Amino acid sequence: MRSIITGSGIGIPKNVVPNDALAKIMDTSDEWIRTRSGIEQRYYVDAGQGSSDLGMLAAEGALQAASRDKSEIDALIFATMTPDHFFPGNGPVLQAKMGLGEIPTFDIRQQCSGFLYALDLADSLIQSRKFKRVLVIGADVHTPFMPWQNGWDVTIGASDREVTQAERDENTKYRDRTVLFGDGAGAVVVEASDDDTRGYLGAKLFTDGSNIEALYVKGVGFRHRPYVNKEELAAGDQIPTMEGRAVFKEAVSRMPAAVRAVCAEAGIEVAQLDLLLVHQANLRIIEGVAKQLALPPEKVPHNIERYGNTTAGTLPILFHECITDGRIRPGMLIGFTALGSGLHWGAALYQC
Ligand code: UT7
Repeated sequence: MRSIITGSGIGIPKNVVPNDALAKIMDTSDEWIRTRSGIEQRYYVDAGQGSSDLGMLAAEGALQAASRDKSEIDALIFATMTPDHFFPGNGPVLQAKMGLGEIPTFDIRQQCSGFLYALDLADSLIQSRKFKRVLVIGADVHTPFMPWQNGWDVTIGASDREVTQAERDENTKYRDRTVLFGDGAGAVVVEASDDDTRGYLGAKLFTDGSNIEALYVKGVGFRHRPYVNKEELAAGDQIPTMEGRAVFKEAVSRMPAAVRAVCAEAGIEVAQLDLLLVHQANLRIIEGVAKQLALPPEKVPHNIERYGNTTAGTLPILFHECITDGRIRPGMLIGFTALGSGLHWGAALYQC
């Protein structure tokens, strides 16, 4: 028995924000962002719109593509590091919002590797014969993390006022992160199949928590009393911190190693991959991974230029686009790889 993906969908918010819009509210430029990251624009949710809303759009698309009714779904896995509430997770939020049956829902995090972990978990649940059809969602909204009180109106084009110098200075403090992230969701329906010629072939997943400070949220947590407090908010500790260069180095070495490991375990050569879907964090990382694995650019698609880094959303959004435009076709062997906060990373193989 194999787990096969029978449908995919995406949820993208309406506010498209080009690099130039960010340059209006902080010291950055289209040129810096493009050169360092490959990003040209990203999408932002409206205030009040959460990852469950984007996840629902994606899930509805995936169900439609799979020709499945919501009543046919046996379990839901929701990967996000930005749930609507601290608890409960987005699983029950989405279960109610979509009117799914009283099925088990799993909330997992794993940040940028969230979808990869969720896909592997879905396969395990199917292989254990507990469930036949699992809905898998990867969704994140980063805008609530960011200091958008200082010029949100200008960013989304609702105002053409000049931001004040104080607002500009505050925004510039976080520019290394703000410019990279966007909001978005992707979803897939994973089903048990007796067709052994295709489907999920397995994954190699890893964690190294020895340096969580490389990419984490320092404040807002249950070692703190109260878990959200004024001092932390004043210090900006609710905003993620990132050692960009350190994470970059980890990404360009660990993702290729994971791809080699999963291919070796499956007894295939990396060169046999028809396509490798890499977590969309930085175009230079994606190109670095391709180079290390000696894969030509046409085998390593990217859409980071349009979406930025949507964390758990990047892989299912890219998968969906490649299915929709025909870059993924029946018979192809594809790989997935991701690395992010934790650090969590890994790679998976899928025979279409
Ligand atoms: O998905 C989760 C995993 N996250 C990642 O994979 C991110 C990995 N890291 C990266 O993608 C890159 O390290 C960044 C894109 C974050 C930064 O690129 P970099 O080439 O490593 O730049 P840098 O951090 O070394 O900064 C170079 C300069 C600095 O100025 P000085 O010190 O040289 O004067 C920064 O202050 O660029 C400055 N800078 C900016 N300038 C304009 C940082 N952010 C910006 C900005 N606009 N947005």
